[in-house]
Amino acid sequence: EKRRITVIGSINMDLVTSTERIPELGETVSGTSFTTKAGGKGANQAVAAANLNADVTFVGCVGDDAFGHQLLKNLQDKRINTDYIKVVPETETGIAAITIANKDNSIIVVPGANLHVTPELVERHEKVIAESDIILLQLEIPLRAVERAIEIANNHGVKVILNPAPVQKLQKKLYEKIDYITPNEHESIVLLDEMDTEKESLTTKIVITRGKQGASIFEKGKQVLIEGFTTEVIDTTGAGDAFNGALAVAISEGKPLKEACRFANAVAAISVTRLGAQSGMPGLEEVKAFLKNVNHI
Ligand code: RIB
Ligand code: NA
Repeated sequence: EKRRITVIGSINMDLVTSTERIPELGETVSGTSFTTKAGGKGANQAVAAANLNADVTFVGCVGDDAFGHQLLKNLQDKRINTDYIKVVPETETGIAAITIANKDNSIIVVPGANLHVTPELVERHEKVIAESDIILLQLEIPLRAVERAIEIANNHGVKVILNPAPVQKLQKKLYEKIDYITPNEHESIVLLDEMDTEKESLTTKIVITRGKQGASIFEKGKQVLIEGFTTEVIDTTGAGDAFNGALAVAISEGKPLKEACRFANAVAAISVTRLGAQSGMPGLEEVKAFLKNVNHI
């Protein structure tokens, strides 16, 4: 039976410019290519999970503009339930202006309609949350909505994964209500001093994503690295999202955390070999073949 994953999060159109180098302040350089790609951390993670055969529902907002309608259709094409995505009138769909130079990226996000994901909107979809195996959250929608979603999930005994990106400080008591928190290295520096990682009673599982090195988890207060896989990098945009979507699928299937991280590492490693966040998300068969192959080496 398919696992039910609900993503409450952001939907953006990524405006992707490739260039040999990032211009200095006041300088103009000639870029090498421009393309628009479906993005947003929430949507990327939803697509990652749907590609791995989970039953994914999305709660979020787009604007009533060309990007919004295009992005809605994109999620439908990926077999994601979009019934709970609100089209907000007279509002712009979220965008991310992404510059790729030397395989690395810099991003400016303009949230637009994503700011309309309010606690009230989340409350209206309590039933969807209650019927999920797991909910997956990021920080590209208002924090109050994220907090409300966590409370509702807790009330119904539904597991929560929070990918704290882009990072902001959270209330201490919020951590206890999260089952898994998945910062990258940079985000973990901001967040971990708020969390008592040595505390016996800490029930939140911390997974730190470390790019191509893999991901580390805490065992009895000590960090243990689950090694990542090396692949040829084309575009790292959305690699963290690939990891989170895959982690949600593996955990909802009851896989032990180490195994879930290894699976998510593989999904992330494959995703960086292709341009675009969502267009890089692999299907389940591809991931299985990849893991079989690396096991033979
Ligand atoms: O995590 C990558 C995503 O962050 C991009 O798709 C972009 O939309 C930004 O929100
Ligand atoms: Na990619």
